[in-house]
Amino acid sequence: MTQKIGIVTGGGDCPGLNAVIRAIVKAGAIYGWECMGIHGGFDGLLTPVQAIPLELKDMDGLLIRGGTILGSANSGQFSAKTGHGEPRQVPQKILNQAKANFDGLNLCAMVAIGGDGTLTIAQQMFEMGFPVVGVPKTIDNDLDATQMTFGFDTAVACAVDALDRLHSTAQSHNRVMVLEVMGRYAGWIASYAGLAGGADVILIPEVKFNYDSIQKKIQAREAEGKHFTIVIVAEGATLEGQGFVTSNKTGKDREARLGGIGHMVAQEIEERTKKETRCVVLGHLQRGGQPTQWDRQLCTRFGVHAFQMIAKAQFGMMVALKENGMMGPVTLKDAINKIRRVDPAGELVMTARALGISFGDEPA
Ligand code: F6P
Repeated sequence: MTQKIGIVTGGGDCPGLNAVIRAIVKAGAIYGWECMGIHGGFDGLLTPVQAIPLELKDMDGLLIRGGTILGSANSGQFSAKTGHGEPRQVPQKILNQAKANFDGLNLCAMVAIGGDGTLTIAQQMFEMGFPVVGVPKTIDNDLDATQMTFGFDTAVACAVDALDRLHSTAQSHNRVMVLEVMGRYAGWIASYAGLAGGADVILIPEVKFNYDSIQKKIQAREAEGKHFTIVIVAEGATLEGQGFVTSNKTGKDREARLGGIGHMVAQEIEERTKKETRCVVLGHLQRGGQPTQWDRQLCTRFGVHAFQMIAKAQFGMMVALKENGMMGPVTLKDAINKIRRVDPAGELVMTARALGISFGDEPA
């Protein structure tokens, strides 16, 4: 009987999901394996099942196409995370229905492509008998078990492009420009883009900031004859003594919808420095478009190795980029619930500080 793999994409989308799907289908086809795409996240496994065969010919052009041809979901019946910390158990009734449908499709394995939330669900499914392999996705790059997640490089490229554009207009008008980027628990996008795009102030969740410090930095630049300043702020950055800035539209069954910190920071800077200040929220632009060449190769390697793990029946595992630069398996159990954060005392932050970049925490 033909071996058949189900592929599901879960959580927020990001560039490279299609490239992973393509790699699994192509690698599998060489050995005569077939693939089915589960639509709309894990909910596609519930009755009525939403699954279609993924043919080799359908893979043309997917290497560079943004989004996911399978659709995705970060809410619904399969929601295991409403914040960082204790996961929620997906109801047994839901898992049983999904398993019955999975068996009905004659699938012998499933690849779950997603971030912490999706992989937490994948682990719960593995525990109740699903033969599952995970692939780490998130533009936030905050999974500890892999050196890098896919989508991150493309998001950084997008943020750097925005900073490059903001630089020229900031300079023309002698303004402060604040760019808000994604990064819920970890400031990887803000830190990498801030360095690559020449930001003067980088605000990240790992370093609590205060306004005196930012004001001092802007005024020091003024004194040096630099009449513009570029600030990059991660959506999850917080002011000393305060929590996340969230939109009031958050549903109960999902993580808080972050956003607003950029405008808050811009307003305070304008009041304090009397300099015209503007804020740009990059938002979902970071999650759209074609993956970079780095993400394309990373996704391709993730996909091929996920297939190879299935062929070796290495279930309950996630494919990871290891410290030696090679692909290798880690258990899903070890991969979930461990956020990889920017080390405030690490080389990345220290390099930025050595250039005089402020993290908004320097004594005023
Ligand atoms: O987890 C990735 C991420 O990009 C976060 O940085 C952000 O908070 C979240 O997704 C937003 O997701 P959505 O707007 O799709 O709910």
